[in-house]
Amino acid sequence: MSLERVTCSAHGLPAYLADAGGPCAVAAPRPAIRQEVRTVQLRQWRTDDADALVAAFAEPEMDRQTATPVDTPAAARSWIGRRAEEWGAGTSYAFTVVDAADAVLGNVAVSAVERVHGTGWVSYWTVTAARGRGVATFACRTVSRWAFDDLGLFRLELGHRVDNPASCAVALASGYAVEGLQRQRLAYDGIRHDVEVHARLATDAEPGAGTSSR
Ligand SMILES: CC(C)(COP(=O)(O)OP(=O)(O)OC[C@H]1O[C@@H](n2cnc3c(N)ncnc32)[C@H](O)[C@@H]1OP(=O)(O)O)[C@@H](O)C(=O)NCCC(=O)NCCS
Repeated sequence: MSLERVTCSAHGLPAYLADAGGPCAVAAPRPAIRQEVRTVQLRQWRTDDADALVAAFAEPEMDRQTATPVDTPAAARSWIGRRAEEWGAGTSYAFTVVDAADAVLGNVAVSAVERVHGTGWVSYWTVTAARGRGVATFACRTVSRWAFDDLGLFRLELGHRVDNPASCAVALASGYAVEGLQRQRLAYDGIRHDVEVHARLATDAEPGAGTSSR
């Protein structure tokens, strides 16, 4: 499998993120698509991302990523506004993942930040056109390092439905060990789903490219 370089240079973030490991290599299963995205950046969501956000939430599998529908530019601006408020309150930090042309590729967030115990909850999604290129993995790794080093958190957690193997692969490749199964944790359309929970500690080894084995 060939490798492609995916780099991060963040805007409006601590200098750490702009230098997050420098260029990093990730597996490239689809070289033709990968050519389109040579650079991945993390930055805070902006109001002018509203149209891209509506398009992202219109895609299959995305309707369950938010409790409130994001189906109009006004709803998207409200979503972005809530992210800014949470950022200001220090409770949650959502980043948009963009390419070199500033097109929105996805979202990665550290939410439920709890300072007493030093914990946070990590989540991510990418737009369909950006998937399978290591974007979510790079974003998750980058935001995790930032949460440990700049937010000072010690333990980051995430969870995914057991029928979401792509999310599991991202978690494992980002250094999140499997900790257990929450039986029938979520209910969608009258069907309950088991959720696998993962966690990564600040003291865990930094994941390297290709560390996605269980
Ligand atoms: C899950 C999601 C974030 C992955 O984003 P992505 O940018 O494609 O992720 P990456 O390219 O970094 O990695 C995807 C991994 O999943 C693997 N994968 C993709 N589809 C898979 C499948 N059906 N079965 C097994 N693995 C799969 C890829 O091979 C890759 O693993 P690898 O790097 O070990 O080869 C994206 O599919 C998405 O946004 N889904 C909808 C929202 C969602 O489910 N969010 C997570 C909620 S817990």
